[in-house]
Amino acid sequence: MRIILGIESSCDETAAALVTSERTILAQHIASQDEVHRPYGGVVPEIAARAHAERLAPMIEATLADAGMTLDDVDAIAATAGPGLIGGVMVGLVTAKALAMAADKPLIAVNHLEGHALSPRLADPELAYPYLLLLVSGGHCQILLVEGVGQFRRLATTIDDALGEAFDKSAKVLGLGYPGGPALERLAREGDAKKVPLPRPLLGSAEPHFSFAGLKSAVLRAKQNMPPPVQGCVAGSVVPPAYSDADIAASFQQAAIDCLIDRARRALAGVGPVNALVVAGGVAANTAIRTALENLAADHDLPFIAPPLALCTDNAAMIAWAGLERFERGQSDPLDVAARPRWPLDPDAEAVRGAGVKA
Ligand code: KG4
Ligand code: ZN
Repeated sequence: MRIILGIESSCDETAAALVTSERTILAQHIASQDEVHRPYGGVVPEIAARAHAERLAPMIEATLADAGMTLDDVDAIAATAGPGLIGGVMVGLVTAKALAMAADKPLIAVNHLEGHALSPRLADPELAYPYLLLLVSGGHCQILLVEGVGQFRRLATTIDDALGEAFDKSAKVLGLGYPGGPALERLAREGDAKKVPLPRPLLGSAEPHFSFAGLKSAVLRAKQNMPPPVQGCVAGSVVPPAYSDADIAASFQQAAIDCLIDRARRALAGVGPVNALVVAGGVAANTAIRTALENLAADHDLPFIAPPLALCTDNAAMIAWAGLERFERGQSDPLDVAARPRWPLDPDAEAVRGAGVKA
């Protein structure tokens, strides 16, 4: 059995985890920086990097202590080396290099997106390559054919905003604060998705990509144009506006789901045989999205696989697992490996205007 220490620091979660080749997470810690960034309504890169620098080393100590281990028990050290906010990535990668050097262990520089992309295999031993993956997070919105470790074919990406970004910005318009995705999903449960007509950009389009900027702007207009409550005929009564914030949230979520399903259906039609339809990344925590994808997979007689919620948002177990998959194939990296703010999974994919806005 091999044991990998994983480190994640590419955005606003500081995380460390110990994962085995038998798919056991021996110990893990995650510190969210939501509180730190909330006053700014989004992640401030410099503040994120400082918070990672303060938290990471004690967190690694605590993770090893929880498992009753020292670095000697670890086979290799895997850290996110990109893509992401470069200050934070450097904190994690340099820490991993120092530990690898001190303990004389192999270093594995992991692509954060590969961490998300392979995380379903940590949770599900049955999931074999190739599979069709929807990678939906705050910085990315892609459809990928996952053919193996380091073997990705990007079939679609966003030409403007990522899906998580659209959730976060729409949530901000509705005054739901940061991070907005989970809050918007909660509010949407109380609303009527038919009340507010919103656009579905690129729905049915011949090109494979996503676009969410127009939908996000329409949410802003719907909020700005919301008529105020008016005095009713009966004294003291109030006629509520035609739609509520919850209706906007529900209508936004449904429009986003319609776009996602349309694009995924298009990809499935052209991709050739795959073993499963898989979703990963922070937005995969959304229950309505999971249900819609599950139905789509059933239409195509495919298993639908989504990692447990805790493995969807940023975490270090997925980084350890991706590191392990590479380590088991004899791969590791030299100590001078560079941090990469941009690091596409499919380097041959054509550049698309506006893609990868956040990370
Ligand atoms: O993968 P992740 O943790 O970080 C990135 O690599 O971006 O994804 C974070 C994104 C945020 O945009 C967040 O709002 C979104 O995932 N998210 C959700 C939900 N939970 C997290 N979006 C919609 N519904 C959710 N339940
Ligand atoms: Zn992520």
